[in-house]
Amino acid sequence: MVTKFEKNILCIGAGYVGGPTMAMIAYKCPQYKITVVDINPDRIDEWNSDALPIYEPGLDELVNSTRGRNLFFHTDIEKGIKESEIIFVSVNTPTKAFGVGAGMAADLQYWEKTARQILACAESSKIIVEKSTLPVKTALAMERILTSSNSGINFEVLSNPEFLAEGTAIKDLEDPDRVLIGSSQTQSGIKARDELVEIYLNWVPDDRIITSNIWSSELSKLVSNAFLAQRISSINAISSLCEKTDADISEVAFAIGKDKRIGDKFLNASVGFGGSCFKKDILNLVYLCRHYGLKEVADYWESVVKINEFQKDRFVMNMLTTMFNSLAGKRICLFGFAFKADTGDTRESPAISISRKLIDENAELVITDPQALENAKNELFEYGGNVSFVKDPYNAAAGSHAIAIMTEWDLYKGLDYKKIYKLMNKPAFIFDGRNIVDHLQLFDIGFNVYPIGKPALTHY
Ligand code: UDX
Ligand code: UDX
Repeated sequence: MVTKFEKNILCIGAGYVGGPTMAMIAYKCPQYKITVVDINPDRIDEWNSDALPIYEPGLDELVNSTRGRNLFFHTDIEKGIKESEIIFVSVNTPTKAFGVGAGMAADLQYWEKTARQILACAESSKIIVEKSTLPVKTALAMERILTSSNSGINFEVLSNPEFLAEGTAIKDLEDPDRVLIGSSQTQSGIKARDELVEIYLNWVPDDRIITSNIWSSELSKLVSNAFLAQRISSINAISSLCEKTDADISEVAFAIGKDKRIGDKFLNASVGFGGSCFKKDILNLVYLCRHYGLKEVADYWESVVKINEFQKDRFVMNMLTTMFNSLAGKRICLFGFAFKADTGDTRESPAISISRKLIDENAELVITDPQALENAKNELFEYGGNVSFVKDPYNAAAGSHAIAIMTEWDLYKGLDYKKIYKLMNKPAFIFDGRNIVDHLQLFDIGFNVYPIGKPALTHY
């Protein structure tokens, strides 16, 4: 039986954003056919298997209930473009590693290549939706590429940034704070925008669907991430002052967060923020400001990244000075490698630079994580056999001089720390980079405990 779908929707890029987002649209809108394509055939094979390429709570169930019904994964990008009326583009836009803007600007080569491929294959009019995070005015560049031939085909470019956070992606997609859609203010722009609004209205209340001009939408995504990261750098900056003054960062965060104007979210002091977005998007914003001659504004936002680096540096310095100024030959166990809990993603994880700094000190590193060990191995590939990866946290901690908590996995809150203490070298240290364990209890067991932004609890 051939099912006639109301709409054919394509997503180019089957990553952390494209895969879950399309799975949610497919789940909520059985009347649409959703196809997800990617240049990487291995990734597509994984999406078509029982072992999905990303770990995200609730994702397996969503994909199992839609795949083969109205959700399809394959590698035939050309066919996908030809058959779809709406194309989401969710290819990655990493920080540029070469040439002008290296280390700052977004690398738009995949994005532009995708635009040219759409132009080459399209046989009918399309709505193109920017899902990737992009510098302001990218839609203009895309429009210029798409109208560069006189094919007579109309392309309307919309900006629809994704605000999902990893680990809670399914909940964020199902119940978003807002959906933002930017369009040009022409008649055809508004018409295209309304078509996208109609898709989201299948499950998102209309007062949460915000429309704007296209540049505001592109910029809002960068600014959203910059504001969130700025809160973390602000609280982390204060955590360093707490450590000097015997104030307690959790108490300070609680007190300031009670002010409704400040709010209590994103005030957890940590070893530093990670993830594929925050650093990349802030640097992108910094680059844009510099480009437009706004040096002071650029410097302001760049300081958010600098404080994040400072936080990671001082974490390792604290370990070094606490452990008698020598880590050489000491076994150090990292609890967690993912950039946050409930994900296997390690991109820009603070654990990466902390590992490197510890290895520079000739420490013997053992890494444990319930979901991210494969990615951790890839991140630290260059160190070969000098790092070990152990799934079981008790085995990982055995024989170590110190544990450093990198990721706030629930698992680490409920371990038998008496048992762990017995297995460790003495004096045993624990550096809690997430402030998740019971510090007093650990101290009573015998550990010397070093939280973030709180007085240390030591036995000497
Ligand atoms: C997304 C956004 O696209 C990025 O701009 C935003 O800042 C974060 O979220 P993400 O989904 O996390 O990125 O990236 P990734 O998991 O790397 O997925 C991108 C996918 O696009 C990859 O599977 C890659 O193979 C694919 N791709 C890349 C293409 O299909 N074509 C290309 O030309 C390039
Ligand atoms: C972020 C944004 O939240 C999301 O809206 C956007 O679409 C993509 O970027 P993500 O990077 O997946 O999402 O996770 P997020 O929960 O924002 O955490 C980012 C980093 O900040 C993590 O390393 C996390 O551990 C850290 N963090 C977060 C803190 O250190 N303290 C906090 O209070 C909150």
